[in-house]
Amino acid sequence: MGINTKLNITVLPGDGIGLDVTHATVPIFAALNVPVDLFWGDIGWECWRNEGTPIPARTWQLIQQTDTTLLGAVTSKPVREAFGELTGALRANHLNYISPLVQLRQTLDLYANVRPIFCLNGEKAFNFCIIRENTEGLYAGFDYYPVPHPLYDLIKENEHWARVPHDEMSVSLRLQSKVGLLRLFEFGFAYAASHAYRRVTLADKPNVLRQSSAYTREIFESVAARYVGIEADILNVDAVALWMVRRPEEFGVIMAENMFGDILSDLGAGIMGGLGLSPSANIGENGCYFEPVHGSAPRIKPGCANPCAMFLTISLLLEHFKYCRQALTIKRAVQEIIKQGRFLTYDLGGSASTIDMANAVIDHCLKSNSSSN
Ligand code: NAI
Ligand code: MG
Repeated sequence: MGINTKLNITVLPGDGIGLDVTHATVPIFAALNVPVDLFWGDIGWECWRNEGTPIPARTWQLIQQTDTTLLGAVTSKPVREAFGELTGALRANHLNYISPLVQLRQTLDLYANVRPIFCLNGEKAFNFCIIRENTEGLYAGFDYYPVPHPLYDLIKENEHWARVPHDEMSVSLRLQSKVGLLRLFEFGFAYAASHAYRRVTLADKPNVLRQSSAYTREIFESVAARYVGIEADILNVDAVALWMVRRPEEFGVIMAENMFGDILSDLGAGIMGGLGLSPSANIGENGCYFEPVHGSAPRIKPGCANPCAMFLTISLLLEHFKYCRQALTIKRAVQEIIKQGRFLTYDLGGSASTIDMANAVIDHCLKSNSSSN
C-alpha cells in the first residue's frame, strides 16, 4: 500500500474496557484528518457465549478484506467456565474454545509482537522496544501432561528422571526454528535501523539452555553482521529484567522468544507506568493487528479505564502505515496531557473518566494540528 492512501480498518472493541477505550479514542482519526474507513465488527466473550466462537465468520471476513485491525480487548476464561457460560443449545455441541488472540496471531502468522516502552511523564530518558516472538518458543503448543511415551523414552535415559513415572511429570518444549528465528531477527534489526535504535539485545539463557541458545546465537550473529552501525549483544533474560528497571535508558531493541518476551513486556508496561499506557502491534509478512497490552479488566469501574494505551496503539498503527506525523502528534498529546496532570484516570492518580481523558488528548491533537497548518 502506498504512502498516505486511504486506510480500511476493522475495529473490534471486544469486551469490558475494550469497548470504553475504543469508542473514546477512534474519533482521533477524524480529528487528525486521516482518511480511513472503519468497519466495526464483533469479537470476544459474547460471541463465544451466543455463537460458539469468539471470532465469528463475518469478523474473519472483515479482517481479511481490510488493511489492518484495531482490537480493544477480549475476555478469555478457563475451559470449565467457557463451557458453563455457553448459551442453551450450544452446550450440546462439542465446541473447543481457543483464545481469539492466539487464533489471530496463528491464522495471520503474526510473528513479531512489538511493544515500545518509553517515558511518558518526562522524568526519565528511556525509549526502547521489546520485540517478542509470537508463534513458537515455549508457547509453540508442545505442552504435555502426562508425558507421551516417545518423549518419556528420551527423558528416562537420565537416571534421575527414570525414577519418576510419566504421569507424575509434565513437559513443555521450547521449540524454535531457523526460519522462525531468522525472520524475527531480521525484523528486529530492520526495526532498530528504521527507528534510530543503536543497540539490539537478545534476551536468552545461554548459560543454562546451552544447545538451543548456541544455535540461536549463530543465527542472531549472522543477521547482526549485516547491520554494522548497530551494537548487538546477547544477555541472560533475568539480567535484562534487572537492567530494564535499573538502567532502561541503555536499551534499544530487546528481542526474546515467546515466553521470555511475554514476561519482559509486562515488566516493560510496569516501567512505563502501568497497563493503561502500554501499546502493541502484531506484525507478519501478510498482515498485522494492533491492540493495547491490557485485557478487558472486569474489575475496573465502568467508564474509568485509561484510554492512553489505546491512543498509543492507534499511534503505532498510523506509524506502520506511514502516517508518521499524525502518529507523533498523538504520542506528544498523550505525553502532554499526562504531564499537565489535569485529566488523569485513577491509575495515574486522578479521577477523570475514560471520556474526559480521551477528549483532553483529542483536543490537544486538534490544537497542535491547527497550529501546524
Ligand atoms: P487486565 O489487563 O484486563 O487488567 C489487569 C489490571 O490492570 C486491572 O485490574 C487494572 O488494575 C489494570 N488495568 C488494565 N488496563 C487498564 C486501563 N486501561 N486503565 C487502568 N487500569 C488498567 O488483566 P486481567 O485482569 O488479568 O484479565 C482480564 C481479562 O482480560 C481476562 O479474561 C484475560 O483473559 C483478558 N486479557 C485479554 C488481553 C487482550 O485482550 N489483549 C490481554 C490480557 C488479558
Ligand atoms: Mg502477557
